Amino acid sequence: MTANEHRFATRAVHAGQEPDPTTGAIMPPVYQTSTYVQEALGKPRRGYEYARVQNPTREAMEANIAALEGARHGVAFASGLAAIEAVVKRLSAGDHIVSEENTYGGTHRMFTQVLARLGLEFTFVDSRDPDNVRRALLPNTRLVHLETPTNPMMRLADLRAIAAIAHDAGALVAVDNTFATPYNQRPLELGADIVVHSSTKYLNGHSDVVGGVVVTNDEQVATDLRFLQKSTGAIPGPWDCWLILRGTKTLHLRMEAHNRSGQRIAEFLERHPRVEAVNYPGLPSHPQHELARRQMCGFTGMLSVELGSLERARKFAEGTRLFALGESLGGVESLIGHPALMTHATVARERRTAMGITDGLVRLSVGVEDPEDLIEDLDQALQRV
Ligand SMILES: Cc1ncc(COP(=O)(O)O)c(C=O)c1O
Repeated sequence: MTANEHRFATRAVHAGQEPDPTTGAIMPPVYQTSTYVQEALGKPRRGYEYARVQNPTREAMEANIAALEGARHGVAFASGLAAIEAVVKRLSAGDHIVSEENTYGGTHRMFTQVLARLGLEFTFVDSRDPDNVRRALLPNTRLVHLETPTNPMMRLADLRAIAAIAHDAGALVAVDNTFATPYNQRPLELGADIVVHSSTKYLNGHSDVVGGVVVTNDEQVATDLRFLQKSTGAIPGPWDCWLILRGTKTLHLRMEAHNRSGQRIAEFLERHPRVEAVNYPGLPSHPQHELARRQMCGFTGMLSVELGSLERARKFAEGTRLFALGESLGGVESLIGHPALMTHATVARERRTAMGITDGLVRLSVGVEDPEDLIEDLDQALQRV
């Protein structure tokens, strides 16, 4: 039995890694090298020539994450945005992409302010209704880019339904699975073709790396991504790959804690008189709770809350002591942020507001501290609101 055939927790610990052939070291070494000495002209040892193209530490991390998503191929990039860019750069000028409108703000900025300039065409839709995706498809649509749950509104896309619609039209489906992680949701099993991650977040889990990865079972997509990794060069360094691999070994343990505390805190905030609304797919009040139960097996530590005004949101976000005010998410420590002024500041105000990213919205990334301490912290901050 190979590591890839085992259950999730075993794959998390073992997939992609063999004891080092030189010493038997159980941990994959950090191959901190830019090149490899060749035996003779045109005769590299074991296929390794130059570290932009091949690095054993990176390969171990790519194989590990691919195994967690149930994929044959993983291709790592220097950041989540570089990973998403590579997926879109498989396409050519004149090709059309349908994208969920409420993606991470940086994804929207890259699509509208960088890739659209190069001749790619984008239509943004509310993918909560699969028919919105169907209506946006054009003869030149090659890709549907989804994020589920979305950042920061925690909207969901029905992956099975949208994959069927996209495939009928000859388009591939890519899913940003950063918020859910493969522990809670495996889009390839639901019909998606490509999964992208900001490994900066839950996969690494310790807020000490920026990274990205794409996984797929599609041989042509994998070949194209390897070609892009080599030809455009946005690769992660070996030390960062090693740290991410160290992180994924405990993904299942951390996600259990994030899921449990996320749920408890969402329920606490929903009952709190100073909170107007809570967006969390694990709450029965979430409009897509049934879909969440169908396609996810845990609801993460991410949630957003509506407080009613910028002033109230500011008091809350600046009033916590354990929840640190900062961008990013998915680390062991809890973070609090204000999407309209932080992660989604580059999305036009009218567009933001239409999606619910109001000035009163605050986003929480619930870490793995004791949930009682976290609840006390949120409660004392809400007293200031
Ligand atoms: C859902 C999601 N996708 C992609 C990204 C971009 O990842 P990175 O910051 O690693 O480039 C982020 C960053 O916050 C994100 O939240």
